[in-house]
Amino acid sequence: MAFNKDFLWGGATAANQVEGGFDADGKGLSTSDVMTAGSNKQPRHITWINRETGETGYSELGFGGKRVAPEGAEPAILPGEFYPSHVASDFYHHYKEDIALMAEMGFKTFRMSINWSRIFPNGDDETPNEAGLEFYDHVFDELNAHHIEPLVTLSHYETPLHLAIKYNGWASRDLIDFYVKYATTVFKRYTGKVRYWLTFNEINCMDMMPFVAGGLIDGSAQNRAQGAHNQFVASALAVKAGHEIDSNYRIGQMLAYSQFYPLTADPADQLKALKAMDDNLFYSDVQTGGHYPASRLASYQRQGIKLDDRPEDYDLLAKYPADFLSFSCYTSNVLTTHEDEAEAGGNLMQGVKNPYLTTSDWGWANDPDVLRMALNTLYDRYRKPLWIVENGLGALDKVEADGKIHDDYRIDYLQQNIKSMRDAVTLDGIDLMGYTSWGCIDLVSAGTGEMRKRYGYIYVDQNDEGTGSLKRLRKDFFYWYKKVIASNGEDLSK
Ligand code: BG6
Repeated sequence: MAFNKDFLWGGATAANQVEGGFDADGKGLSTSDVMTAGSNKQPRHITWINRETGETGYSELGFGGKRVAPEGAEPAILPGEFYPSHVASDFYHHYKEDIALMAEMGFKTFRMSINWSRIFPNGDDETPNEAGLEFYDHVFDELNAHHIEPLVTLSHYETPLHLAIKYNGWASRDLIDFYVKYATTVFKRYTGKVRYWLTFNEINCMDMMPFVAGGLIDGSAQNRAQGAHNQFVASALAVKAGHEIDSNYRIGQMLAYSQFYPLTADPADQLKALKAMDDNLFYSDVQTGGHYPASRLASYQRQGIKLDDRPEDYDLLAKYPADFLSFSCYTSNVLTTHEDEAEAGGNLMQGVKNPYLTTSDWGWANDPDVLRMALNTLYDRYRKPLWIVENGLGALDKVEADGKIHDDYRIDYLQQNIKSMRDAVTLDGIDLMGYTSWGCIDLVSAGTGEMRKRYGYIYVDQNDEGTGSLKRLRKDFFYWYKKVIASNGEDLSK
C-alpha cells in the first residue's frame, strides 16, 4: 500500500466561497463580501463609497500595490451590484446534506474555514457572536458523527471588513492581537471536535493580492511586507496558544506552491526561475522553517522597506513554527528573460506558455508532475510532514437531460495528479498526511467570482448570476473518487 491506513482523503472549501448567509445570525461583513463577479476576461472588482461625498466606484483587486479605494473612500456593498459570496452554494443552510454526501464518498477529512466575521463581526469586538460559534458547533458535530475529521483554516481570503477600513488590515500590528483572540476563542470552543488547523490560507498571496489575503486597502510594498510579518507573528502566537489549549492540536501552514520552469537553458532564465521559487518559498522559510532568509532581508533593504518589528518577534517565529506544511498546487509557470519569446508565448506577468503542456478552460497548464516536484522540494527543504490541501481542475460542466454529469476530464486530471502524489510517497519517501482536493462541492471561484468554473464532485445548481435551485447532484467523478478512497489510492481506474 502506498498510503498508510490513516491517510486523510477528502476535499476542501473556504467559507466565503461556499457558505453564503453573508449577514445571517449576526455575521459582520468581510472583505470578500464587497467583491463582485468577474470572468476569464473581466477581473473581479471591489466596490467602494466615499461616505462624505456619496461618490461610488470600482477598483481592481489591488494587484501591483494599487489602493483598492481612493483616499477618503472605503470598500462597501452598493445597491444593484451582485456579490457572489452572499449566497454562494448556501452551505450555511445545506451543510447536513453536503456532509452526508461527503460521507457517502468515504471522506476521512473535510477542509473548511471559519469565517472570522461570523465569530467577531467587526474583528475588534469585545465578545464573540454566540450564533456564529453555534453554527460551527453544528458543522463539526455533523462531521464527527460521520467520522470525518475537520481540517479548519482560520483565515481563508477574508478579513472582517471593519479591520480593513479602520486599520488597513494586516498592515497594522493591532491585527495580531485581534487574530490571536479569535484563534484562542475557537481553539477553546472546539476542543475535542477539531484536531487539525491552518492559520492562513496561501499566506504568500499577500504579495500579489494584499486586499484578498490581508485586507490591505493600501497595499504598498512597505505595507505588504509588514502585513506578511504581522501574519507570521500571529501564526506563531496561534501555534503557541493552540498547543497550550490542547496538546493534540496540530497547526499547519498553508502555502500556494508555485513551480517556475526556465524557458531556455540560458543561465539568466535559470536564475530568474530560481529567484521566483525563492521569493515564494520565503513564506514557508519563515512560517515553517522559523527564520527570515537572508535574500528577503537584503531585498527589503534594497527597497528601503523597514519592518515595524520587535526583537521578541524573531524568538516567537523560531520557537513556534507550523507543525506541518500544507499547500495548494494546480499548475506550473514558465519564465524567461527573452522578451521576444515571451511575447510569442503570451503574457509576461503570468509567465510564458509551456509548449509541452495543454491548458484548462481557464488557461491553467495541466502539469501532473508538478505535484511530485512540490512534495520533493518542500520535504527536502523543511523535513516536516506535508499535506496537499488543494489540487483540482476548474472546468465547465454540463448537466445531461437525465441529471447526470459526465466529467471525464476531471477524472483524467485527478487520476494523473494522484498518481504523481503516489510516486512521491512510494518512490521518494515523502511523509504525506493527506489529500483534500479543491472545491469538493461546487463553489464560487476565488479568482473570477464565477460559479461555472466548477471543481466539485457534487454539482450545485446555481449560476453566475446567483440564481438556481441550489439542488445537489452527483457527478461521475463522485463515484470514481469514492472508489479511490475505498481502495486507499490503489485503484485509480475509471
Ligand atoms: C486557491 C485558493 O488559490 O485556489 C482558493 O486558496 C481558490 O480559494 C483556488 O478557489 C482555485 O482558484 P480559482 O480562482 O479557480 O477559484
